[in-house]
Amino acid sequence: MPTLDELRSTHPDIAPDFTIPQHWERYSAAEHEVWQTLFERQMTVLPGRACREFMDGFSLLKLEHDRIPDFGRLSEKLTKLTGWSVVAVPSLVPDEIFFDHLANRRFPAGQFIRKPEQLDYIEEPDVFHDVFGHVPMLANPVFADYMQAYGKGGQRAQSEFGALKNLARLYWYTVEFGLIQNAEGLRIYGSGIVSSSAESVYAAQSPSPNRIAFDLERVMRTEYRIDDFQESYFVISSFRELFEETYKDFAPLYKKLASGPVYKPGDIVATDNVITRGTHSYRARTHSLPA
Ligand code: PHE
Ligand code: FE
Repeated sequence: MPTLDELRSTHPDIAPDFTIPQHWERYSAAEHEVWQTLFERQMTVLPGRACREFMDGFSLLKLEHDRIPDFGRLSEKLTKLTGWSVVAVPSLVPDEIFFDHLANRRFPAGQFIRKPEQLDYIEEPDVFHDVFGHVPMLANPVFADYMQAYGKGGQRAQSEFGALKNLARLYWYTVEFGLIQNAEGLRIYGSGIVSSSAESVYAAQSPSPNRIAFDLERVMRTEYRIDDFQESYFVISSFRELFEETYKDFAPLYKKLASGPVYKPGDIVATDNVITRGTHSYRARTHSLPA
């Protein structure tokens, strides 16, 4: 990850908290078109697959289909709903900077957009992943509180417990790749899923991955893969439940996690409440994508 000094050469106006001006007026027509292509693709995929809270946030914020959002105007709407704002950053930021933003209800979003030849896969989060994927859930009051609590918890995990790895797994299996099952059925909400058309279909319907009921300690013991679709998803039953499970002192849990097993991404363990056991027959990056 580049340091602040290194980033100054490409972003002379970067602030100590790693934010930069979005410079919305500098996006080209071709860049807005990439947004539009991705947006329209997701609109055909998300209804019936994304959970109600995501779809509601999405309509409340009125994201436009044909242009990259202006973070200033988007933040005005979001602040009215939950007190969150969106700030621009060049790319991934150091952990402590990231936690500080979340703890203060600021979501750091990548300023750049992927190239037309990278529609399906990027290594660093861009404005489509960060805004389309993350921001609708921040319009939900319970999820908004969860994200702030996570930021505060990150500061504590880092400074007091050296447990960042465990906490990062919780973020990965909820915020980025979480599923929810309630009266609506099984639905997606993780930003890494809802911003990917192929993974939206895969996570919601493919027989390939495991889907396992969320369990905090189990999740915190589970490694994850960043180079392919997930082999296991963890399923919550409500955002209230997720918040209540995590809004307690993690000190005893961190102590427990310092020993005991670490699970591989596709493992199923005896204590799991398995919702669907995966066939593990499908790998996205080595197969052609489903339509
Ligand atoms: N409760 C956690 C702690 O005591 C903080 C936290 C809250 C972490 C919500 C993640 C999500 O450190
Ligand atoms: Fe993300």
